[in-house]
Amino acid sequence: MTLSFILNGEDVSARVRSVDRLSDLLREHFGLLGLQSDCRGGRCGRCLIMLGGRLVPSCILPAFRIRGMEVVTIEGFSQTDEYQDIVAGFKSAGVETCGFCDSAKILATATLLERRTRPTNAEILEQLSVAPCRCTDPETLVHGVQAAAERRARRLYHRAR
Ligand code: FES
Ligand code: FES
Repeated sequence: MTLSFILNGEDVSARVRSVDRLSDLLREHFGLLGLQSDCRGGRCGRCLIMLGGRLVPSCILPAFRIRGMEVVTIEGFSQTDEYQDIVAGFKSAGVETCGFCDSAKILATATLLERRTRPTNAEILEQLSVAPCRCTDPETLVHGVQAAAERRARRLYHRAR
């Protein structure tokens, strides 16, 4: 079947089989290698994407289910001001990132800040639990997301003036 959807702001289409997973389609057909396909069971967070603004693991989603929907991967999100806020916030707080966890941490933070401009510590830790990482302690992670939230709020305030 031919599947049409919006990928990182562009209308795209591809031929898919009913067994194809979204993570494989994005990596193999569209060359989006910023998402990994590791556990293939919704546990590691390495294949996270934004689907209609929600954070979802693309490894457990049949590709045909996204017909007409909007998908944003880390490649598309990295073109936004929100991405810059998060990267700068993480850097200022000392949050570690690597090729395994960076897209998950960043997209998890982005979807959290979309619905909660000033998230609580508990909300941050719950949201970021989708990106398991032992390299950054929870306190630093909280500071990183708070710093990103502050940068985002400042930028939106100046844009509105
Ligand atoms: S590959 Fe691990 S959650 Fe998708
Ligand atoms: S910095 Fe990537 S898993 Fe910890």
